[in-house]
Amino acid sequence: MSANNQANISEVLTQTSKLSLDDTTSDLKKASSGETEVNTQKITPWEVEGAVVDGVQVSVDYDKLIKQFGTRRIDDELIARFEKITGHKAHMYLRRGIFFSHRDINVILDRYEQKKPFYLYTGRGPSKGSMHLGHMLPFVFCKWLQDIFDVPLVIQLTDDEKFLFKTGLTLEDTYKYSRSTVKELAAIGFKPEKTFIFSDLDYVGGAFYKNIIKISKSITGSTAKAAFGFTDTDAIGKVFYPCIQIAPCFSTSFPAIFGTKKDIPCLIPCGIDQDPYFRLTRDISQKLGHPKPTLIHSKFLPALQGSNSKMSSSVDNTAIFTTDTPAQIKNKINRYAFSGGADTLELHRLHGGNPDVDISYQYMCYFVEDDAFLNNLYNEYKAGTLTTGEMKQHCIKIVQEFLLEFQTQLATITEQNVEDFMNPNYPRKFFFN
Ligand code: TYM
Ligand code: TRP
Repeated sequence: MSANNQANISEVLTQTSKLSLDDTTSDLKKASSGETEVNTQKITPWEVEGAVVDGVQVSVDYDKLIKQFGTRRIDDELIARFEKITGHKAHMYLRRGIFFSHRDINVILDRYEQKKPFYLYTGRGPSKGSMHLGHMLPFVFCKWLQDIFDVPLVIQLTDDEKFLFKTGLTLEDTYKYSRSTVKELAAIGFKPEKTFIFSDLDYVGGAFYKNIIKISKSITGSTAKAAFGFTDTDAIGKVFYPCIQIAPCFSTSFPAIFGTKKDIPCLIPCGIDQDPYFRLTRDISQKLGHPKPTLIHSKFLPALQGSNSKMSSSVDNTAIFTTDTPAQIKNKINRYAFSGGADTLELHRLHGGNPDVDISYQYMCYFVEDDAFLNNLYNEYKAGTLTTGEMKQHCIKIVQEFLLEFQTQLATITEQNVEDFMNPNYPRKFFFN
């Protein structure tokens, strides 16, 4: 990706504040208010970088992001409501603040309470044949949401997007990666009868395309520039692309599932970097006769090198891939995982380490259910009784086990399973018509 695709959020914010939108409650407007001091943290759909303070890149500041994007924090009260309404203990990602922000989640909880329909929507841009651990996150959470709510789920594979935004990938490559992604998603355990996974390259047309084209008529070039930082040298396909990621927010894009119903809202679990698409969607939904999408946002699983950037497929050795062997996992964590330990063992024993920046500890928070076990590691590391080497050993074992189980599941997925997930008319029991 060239640098000019990578919108600097501060520029984006300055530009959005110049927009005159007729909806005074516009999410774009809220996102733009008074945030000039946030000028170095870059969070866009294409780039995640913490601010640089005194020449040192620091961790992503999620509190600032909530203010900057105009979203709401997921607080204890909301988690309590979630538990009360669903009758399920909150997922560890909610309890631990990994899914930390939302837009209008109460709308969906109200509907669940009133037994009114809604659906889940998420997606992935297949830029490689296999996902990394960071990609698994929204999907693991999404599977949990599907299990507790028992609602349909649509997953968009944006092979068109990856072709447009990445150099060196052919359409054949990205389409092939879409199909291997379906296998991986199947291995996560989505229910085939309630889950439709589609490649844009296959599915654009018909009702979906009608929505895409209506959306494209309701967004101006200046709005797209402001939201995504496009410039005049960008390919026009890129400027158009957001319409394709927006269209699955509308239930009429899926006639095989929802018939002609226009009023079924969706809940979108995604990394916070995807919010610009949906902020824009929320500004145009009502004009187009659809409900606004609801969002629930996650923090990023950090790169091995530390919390100032996200795990990413495009930067070598920042990521652990679903295809990594136990030996590769061990090697990557031992060699690259940023350590919160003191400079020498003596100093570590004396002053303790900092688990809050220790990547091995951070990763375990994503994969270990047991709160007591984690608390123990946290306290012992701080006290200096647990060394960095020992922390890494725990992390290696846990990630190895997680991926071995995933790889075992993956081996059971057949081509027929892939076909079924990708067939809009696969026998699915949907009741909303
Ligand atoms: P993609 O493939 O870049 O990422 C897919 C999803 O994974 C999240 N993600 C991460 N989450 C935590 N830690 C990380 N290190 C990490 N890296 C990626 C992303 O935020 C995203 O939720 N354009 C989208 C595809 C898309 C989409 C959507 C995503 C189409 N429609 C609707 C979310 C919702 C993309 O290329 O995602
Ligand atoms: N745009 C995302 C990416 O670049 C992929 C994606 C498509 C997605 N639809 C989504 C992510 C819906 C989350 C939710 O990777």
